[in-house]
Amino acid sequence: MSLYETIFTRRSMRQYDETPLDAAALSEVQNYLDGAKQLPGQSARFEIVGKDKLKGGSAPYAILAYTDDSEEAWVNIGYTLQGVDLWLQSRGYGSVWSGMAAPLEKDPEYRILLGFGPTSVPLRTSENDFKRKTITEVSNEDNAVARAARLAPSAVNLQPWFLTFRDGKVEVRANVRGIGRVLPGRLWLFDIGIVLKHVELALMHEGKTVTGLSIKGTGKNVAVAVSY
Ligand SMILES: Cc1cc2nc3c(=O)[nH]c(=O)nc-3n(C[C@H](O)[C@H](O)[C@H](O)COP(=O)(O)O)c2cc1C
Repeated sequence: MSLYETIFTRRSMRQYDETPLDAAALSEVQNYLDGAKQLPGQSARFEIVGKDKLKGGSAPYAILAYTDDSEEAWVNIGYTLQGVDLWLQSRGYGSVWSGMAAPLEKDPEYRILLGFGPTSVPLRTSENDFKRKTITEVSNEDNAVARAARLAPSAVNLQPWFLTFRDGKVEVRANVRGIGRVLPGRLWLFDIGIVLKHVELALMHEGKTVTGLSIKGTGKNVAVAVSY
């Protein structure tokens, strides 16, 4: 299954099998991570650990993400690890973003983790299995890119974004309201990066080439213009 197809079947996995992954399987994940595309100018670090190095969470393994504290760096982690989330699920693994779980070892550059591992729980089979806002709540147009973006995961399922299609560009703007305003940290910045990955994969699926990604605005006014 392609990464684009996986957008329509993925789920946050919270039940895992106990069978440990062998060294070859773990090194395949590490290789994918090493080659994972990051946003221009960004260089987040990722580390795979077992659950003995974590507090909280249900997954037997996790990818820990480390970076500097700029807003672009947070968006980049969302963008990069969402590609990994889709890849893991396309390979039959379960995965789940987790803001609650954390590594036992403190590091000021630690940002978030993506739990993963073997699972027997099946993927979703239809878009109707997703609990999401309607297209018109998240986009000014109903098209294939907006439909893929709408299914992106987000912290507490807030879906804090709005897409505006205009003049060969789509702008992904933060739309942080309600409980989102009191969430700890800047989780919506990951969410913006996550939806950006779905937008990019959908544009590619439509035969378009993404020619530029530029981040503007700050805080809850962050927006990313995607040219294609
Ligand atoms: C940045 C981020 C942090 C998240 N943190 C948690 C978490 O701590 N615990 C959890 O169970 N799910 C967490 N989630 C998963 C979301 O709750 C989930 O993506 C959302 O409810 C939509 O469900 P779905 O991914 O199954 O489509 C997180 C998701 C994101 C994107």
